[in-house]
Amino acid sequence: MKKRIAIFASGSGSNAQKIMEHFKKHPDAEVAIVLTNNPEAYVLQRADNFEVPSHIFTRQEFYSSKNIIQLLTNLQIDLIVLAGFLWLIPNNLLKAFPNKIINLHPALLPKYGGKGMYGDRVHNAIIEAGDGESGITIHFVNEEFDEGEIIHQSRFHIDKGDDLEIIKFKGQQLEHLHYPKIIEFLLKKIKNN
Ligand code: GAR
Repeated sequence: MKKRIAIFASGSGSNAQKIMEHFKKHPDAEVAIVLTNNPEAYVLQRADNFEVPSHIFTRQEFYSSKNIIQLLTNLQIDLIVLAGFLWLIPNNLLKAFPNKIINLHPALLPKYGGKGMYGDRVHNAIIEAGDGESGITIHFVNEEFDEGEIIHQSRFHIDKGDDLEIIKFKGQQLEHLHYPKIIEFLLKKIKNN
């Protein structure tokens, strides 16, 4: 049986898109579902385009019911991939999928992480600090924002004159390149049920 991926995303979903492209014709793994808290998220359209089922949930469903765990268990999900998903993962979900939830962060953690640090806010903080480099981090998810064990980091130079859009673009290029490959690498290490 193919390994099964669930993607959580709240926004545009360009990373979800790259992951769905990567696994579309993959012999050993597939994206089984896309989940979002945001009914307006463009990631839903992207999932549709790939004929990947999606599920929209509320805060109540996520934090105060067992529906999401049940859904992921029923789908026999092997790896949960956060791709621009901004809510803290509740403890019961962490326990149901130990070391099987990963996140992507647009900076070199532990710098520029924590609650409220996402998207442009991260890049603006980096510009304000005048850093000469930035990068991306892929890490396991734990009960704190952006604090789980780091799996992968890659970096890029910030040149004089690089503005928000350029820095964002450089980071996104790295995200799109590395996230699908890291997911594939992790899935290979997960034993067949
Ligand atoms: C990505 O850049 C990801 O690193 C960031 O959200 C963006 C989602 O983009 N995640 C965080 O900031 C998490 N703290 P996408 O919707 O185009 O994939």
